[in-house]
Amino acid sequence: MTNSDFWQLPQLRLGDLELDFPVVQAALSGYSDGPMRLLARRLGASYALCEVMLDQMVLTCGKKTRRMMQVSDEEQPVGGQLMGSKPEDFGPAAMRLVEAGFRVIDINFGCPVKKVLGRCRGGYLLSQPEIALEIVSRVRDAVPAELPVTVKMRKGMDDTNESKEKFFTILDGAFARGVAAVTVHGRSVQQRYIGPSNWNFLKEVKEFLGERTLLGSGDLFSAEDCLRMMQETGVDGVTVARGAIGNPWIFREARALAAGKPLPAPPTVYEQREVISEHYRLADEYYGEDRGNRIMRKFGIKYAQLHPDPIAVRDAFVRIRHPGSWQKVIEQWYSEDRPGLRPSPPTDLGCGVNATKKGKQDNKNLSTAGACSEE
Ligand SMILES: Cc1cc2nc3c(=O)[nH]c(=O)nc-3n(C[C@H](O)[C@H](O)[C@H](O)COP(=O)(O)O)c2cc1C
Repeated sequence: MTNSDFWQLPQLRLGDLELDFPVVQAALSGYSDGPMRLLARRLGASYALCEVMLDQMVLTCGKKTRRMMQVSDEEQPVGGQLMGSKPEDFGPAAMRLVEAGFRVIDINFGCPVKKVLGRCRGGYLLSQPEIALEIVSRVRDAVPAELPVTVKMRKGMDDTNESKEKFFTILDGAFARGVAAVTVHGRSVQQRYIGPSNWNFLKEVKEFLGERTLLGSGDLFSAEDCLRMMQETGVDGVTVARGAIGNPWIFREARALAAGKPLPAPPTVYEQREVISEHYRLADEYYGEDRGNRIMRKFGIKYAQLHPDPIAVRDAFVRIRHPGSWQKVIEQWYSEDRPGLRPSPPTDLGCGVNATKKGKQDNKNLSTAGACSEE
């Protein structure tokens, strides 16, 4: 790591909430549910965000949303994220999240999914600074002053100057209205996941913000990436997204590196077995056996990347049809302790955003179709 002798790990604060480590679990629609957040926290994330929720869904509060709004004491502090289009719905929805136990309310101005944009939500609001800032005001006014409100943004709608101006209007205006921190994903909405996340842009944003808190997002697939983003851009913290799916150990590895220790070896097969089994147990408790089993298929596929026989294990997880049969996969593939593999960055465009038709279909089959399955 360059300049590590002179570089100090940032102290991440979200308003009054002081976090003990600047690497956190990002919001991930269809993934960052209770079980994933809990495991991320146990393995070293200092904070985790729930998958995005639609304001309307929070207000009508059906069964699925009630489950999404469940927060356990062990995972605190946990953030709830809202997405919508009408400023007047955001305040009451934010209050529902506060009542449910979320300690931070995050507002989504980043989702690039076509349907979401078509409904004037998520990333669309980056083109509408007035509405976006009205939403920020409504949420900040509704939520008790001691709870932080934060915003998630992409770097703009596209790469035009007009889009950049709007980005900075929203960014500056959001802080002026009392948000505690902003997370920026260094890709534009138009870009979706094509091409790299622009870390230079994150650096420019941090220079503009000065002391105000910025978290960075985009292309964090290893513990080294997490530290490197903070070092190269000056952001106060990073949010790990695709890099944490099936690899919650990334947080413990980042903690080790930040403490000046060598990068730990990837988890062995036995260590993987323990976490995967616990993930199944938590999913079962959270969703019930059938749904838990279906949801765990997509996690199993990601966990398989760390196994020394990744392809065979991935196929075994894909073939699981009946609740309980995952134990057979564990017995067959996880009963001999061997060194694990380090997962490589996605070669497609990542979960739910694959470029190929087949990839899209696979993801459709596996997706739990959250409010913003980027997503
Ligand atoms: C499947 C998927 C779901 C996502 N869901 C959300 C979400 O609910 N809220 C949000 O703010 N960002 C969401 N994101 C964006 C990520 O938090 C993150 O900003 C983005 O993936 C870039 O980070 P990465 O390149 O390290 O994955 C999602 C991304 C993916 C791939």
